[in-house]
Amino acid sequence: MKIAVVGTGYVGLVTGAVFADGGHTVICADINEKKIELLKKGIMPIYEEGLSDLVAKNVCEKRLSFTTNVGKAVKDSNVVFIVVGTPSNQSGSADLSAVWVVAKTIADNLNGYKIIVTKSTVPVGTNERIKQIIKDNLKGRAKFDVVSNPEFLREGTAIFDANNVDRVVLGSDSKSALSKIASLYTHLNVPILKSDFRSAELIKYASNAFLATKISFINEIARICDRAKADVKTVADGMGYDKRIVRSFLNSGIGYGGSCFPKDVEALYRTSSDQEYDFRLLRGVMDVNERQKYFYVEKIVNFFEGNLSGKTLACLGTAFKNNTDDIRKSVAIEVIKILRGEGAKIRVFDPAALENAKAELGNDVIYYAKDAYDAIEGVDGICILTEWREFAELDFEKIRKVVKGRVLFDGRNIFDPKTVEKLGFKYFGIGRGLL
Ligand code: UDX
Ligand code: UDX
Repeated sequence: MKIAVVGTGYVGLVTGAVFADGGHTVICADINEKKIELLKKGIMPIYEEGLSDLVAKNVCEKRLSFTTNVGKAVKDSNVVFIVVGTPSNQSGSADLSAVWVVAKTIADNLNGYKIIVTKSTVPVGTNERIKQIIKDNLKGRAKFDVVSNPEFLREGTAIFDANNVDRVVLGSDSKSALSKIASLYTHLNVPILKSDFRSAELIKYASNAFLATKISFINEIARICDRAKADVKTVADGMGYDKRIVRSFLNSGIGYGGSCFPKDVEALYRTSSDQEYDFRLLRGVMDVNERQKYFYVEKIVNFFEGNLSGKTLACLGTAFKNNTDDIRKSVAIEVIKILRGEGAKIRVFDPAALENAKAELGNDVIYYAKDAYDAIEGVDGICILTEWREFAELDFEKIRKVVKGRVLFDGRNIFDPKTVEKLGFKYFGIGRGLL
C-alpha cells in the first residue's frame, strides 16, 4: 500500500518505519521543518533502540521518505495515518487542535478514495468529527472512509512492540475499510478486533488507565509493605504468578510519568465527567500517583534529619523511564525539582536524556555528569530515579571509593536491599520494609 504518516514523532516515526519495513511505500510528513531536515540527513530526532538502522535500511531501499508537505503526502497515498500529538490542555482534556488541522489538510488534498486512519490517542467522538470535518471541507467528489486504530507502543521498546502486539484494535462504520486496514496487520498473527469508532477510542483510554491503576495499586501496597516490614517486590512476584493478574506493570516506584499515562488517565476522567459520571477510582489513581514522589522525597529528607541544605545528591536518571531520551512528564525531573527546592545540590546523569534535561532543569542542577560514577563523586547520597539497566549494574566497590555518604535511595527498586547493605550502604527503596 502507499501510506502517508502525518506526524513524525515518537509514535509516527516508528509506525512509518515499521510499515516500510513490511514492504509498503511510506511517506512520513511533519510540519516541523527541523525534524524533517534531520531525518533526510539520516539523523534521528529521538532516541529509540534500533530506529536509526531501520530508517536507514528502508530509505536506502526507497520505501521510506520524509516531507514537510503534508498535502502532497496525502495526494500520493491511499491510506493516511494521523499520528500527531494530542497533549493535555489546561482543563485536563485532550488538545485536538493538531488533529483538526490535519483533517482539514486531508480534505483539501483528497484526490481519490482514501482511508484515513487515526492512531493518535483521541477521546470518544473524535473519529466521527474527523469524518465530518473532511466531509464539510471536501473540494471535489472523492470518497473516503475513516478508521480508528489506537497504538499500544511503549517508548524504548517501540519497534519490538510494533512487531509483537498483543492485539490490533480497529473501529469504523465501513466494513470494507476495516478489512483493508486489517490486512496491514494479518502477518502479525494476533487477534484483530473490528469494532465501532467509539468502542475503539475507549479501548485505548481504558487500557492505559487500567495499567496506570495497576501501578498506583502496587504503590499503595508498597506503603503497607514499608509499615508491615514486607517486600513489595516479593508481593508483586507472588501476585504476578496468578494468570489473572500477571506480573507486568506491578513495579512500585516514584510514580508513572511520560507523555501518555498522565494525560490519558486525566482525559478519561474528563470524558466521564463530561458524560456526568464521576469516575472515583481514577481520581484515586491520579491522587496516589501525585503523592508518590513526595513519599520518596520524604525518605530522603527524613534520613538527613529534615534538612537537605548543604547536602549534595547524585540523581541517576532524568528520562520518564529507561531506554528513552523522553522527559515529558518525567517524575525523575519533578523529583529533582523538589529536592532542589528542599535545598539540596544536585549532580545528575542520564544515559540518553541528559540534553533534554538540561533544557528543562538549567541551573537547578550544579553538575551534568559524564557518567554515573562521575555524578556520584563526593555526594552525600545517591538517588535512583530512572530504571536504566546500567544503573542496576553499577560497581559498588568503585562507588564506595568516590562517595562521601554511603546511602542509596532506590526510587525504582532496582537493587536488592540486603546486597546493598552488605556492601556497606544504607538502603531505602519503595516498599522494601523500611519506613
Ligand atoms: C503520539 C500520539 O499520536 C498521541 O496521541 C499518543 O497519545 C502518543 O503518541 P507522540 O508521537 O508521542 O504522540 O507525539 P510527538 O512526538 O509530539 O509527535 C507529534 C508530531 O506531530 C510532531 O513531530 C509534530 O511536529 C507533528 N505535527 C503536529 C504535525 O505534523 N502537524 C501538526 O499539525 C501538529
Ligand atoms: C504507555 C503504554 O504502555 C503504551 O501501551 C501506550 O501506547 C503509550 O503509553 P509508555 O508511556 O511509553 O507506554 O511507557 P510505559 O512502559 O507504559 O511506562 C509508563 C510509566 O509508568 C513510566 O514512567 C514507567 O516508569 C512507569 N511504570 C511502568 C511504573 O512505575 N511501574 C511499572 O510497573 C511500569
